[in-house]
Amino acid sequence: MGTHKTNSALGRVKHLAEKLLLRRKRREKRRLMSAAEAEGHRRVLADLYRSAYGLEMHPLQSDRTVVPPREVVNRVQGRSKADPSTFLGTGYRDATWLLERLRALGYDVLSMERVLDLGFGTGRFLLHFLPFPMERHGCDVNPVALEWTSKILGDFADLRLTQRQPPLPYAAGFFDLVIAWSVLTHTPIVDQPGWLAEIGRVLKPGGCLIATVHDFSRVPKPHRAAGWYETGVERGWHMNAYLTAAKLAEVWSRAFDTISVTREPPGQAHVIACSKPREARQARPRVGAVTWPSPMRAVSAASDRSQASRSSSPPATQIPFTAAMQIARAASMPVSIAWKSRR
Ligand SMILES: C[S@@+](CC[C@H](N)C(=O)[O-])C[C@H]1O[C@@H](n2cnc3c(N)ncnc32)[C@H](O)[C@@H]1O
Repeated sequence: MGTHKTNSALGRVKHLAEKLLLRRKRREKRRLMSAAEAEGHRRVLADLYRSAYGLEMHPLQSDRTVVPPREVVNRVQGRSKADPSTFLGTGYRDATWLLERLRALGYDVLSMERVLDLGFGTGRFLLHFLPFPMERHGCDVNPVALEWTSKILGDFADLRLTQRQPPLPYAAGFFDLVIAWSVLTHTPIVDQPGWLAEIGRVLKPGGCLIATVHDFSRVPKPHRAAGWYETGVERGWHMNAYLTAAKLAEVWSRAFDTISVTREPPGQAHVIACSKPREARQARPRVGAVTWPSPMRAVSAASDRSQASRSSSPPATQIPFTAAMQIARAASMPVSIAWKSRR
């Protein structure tokens, strides 16, 4: 009787463990990209290089030896990136998005001298800057990331191990472009103003930061008044930081003059392109007079407007108002004082 009970209890545990494993495998599979999909993204990126810049892809961009092994990925980023189609395919897709966004904002990557991939991870992004005749720089706080990426991109980029807190080991005004993809999403809120200020320091006047943040709607209702929310803090730098649109405007507007936010598919991260005006740094930020019905609407409307004006206006006026200010106004936030006092 006793043995039977033990067996059935063991059986139940085994069954549960199998179920959990299956669920995890299914979840992982859903995050994977098929080879055909990846190839589709590769072609789109190749076309973009050719049509917009007259460039061809670098052979390494389609070379499977750049795909990090599972033991590396497990210590750097999401497991799915050990899958070749997913690593390469999401890289093609995200690089296309980024290059198109830069073009929409009036930035010419061909005329840029230096790019910094802040938190380069396994080199998924930096890889797609190989066709450009620019200096490629990357920094990461994880020695495993540095070791792996140095193997594949060490001959093509200056890669450094940096600290969990600013400063970065670069001179002021060194970069034309800084990319922080899936980095601020895992940076504690308390550290974000410092990091944004530091990125602003290493950017040239008129330079651009492109970063991702989590979907604003993921801040649960009880935390919306405060404007932020964190999970997994016990996991250190694998934690997640969420901001509302209004909080984002408040925090980012201290370091940057113009902000453009694009909402990616619902439930996914929002992607933010944030730039400084091309005029002198002393220039006052322009403040539009539009009142938006809600912060969320302000975000997408600002983005639409900057897209719409891309072909007709010179870069400095392509974003004719400060989206962040619009968001803040809609949320009745007194950020204009902090904003102007920096100038
Ligand atoms: C989720 S991974 C993303 C990697 C890469 N950006 C990508 O999209 O494939 C985040 C990376 O950022 C690095 N990281 C986090 N905070 C950082 C910081 N303040 N400075 C430099 N690297 C950082 C982590 O070590 C990790 O490699």
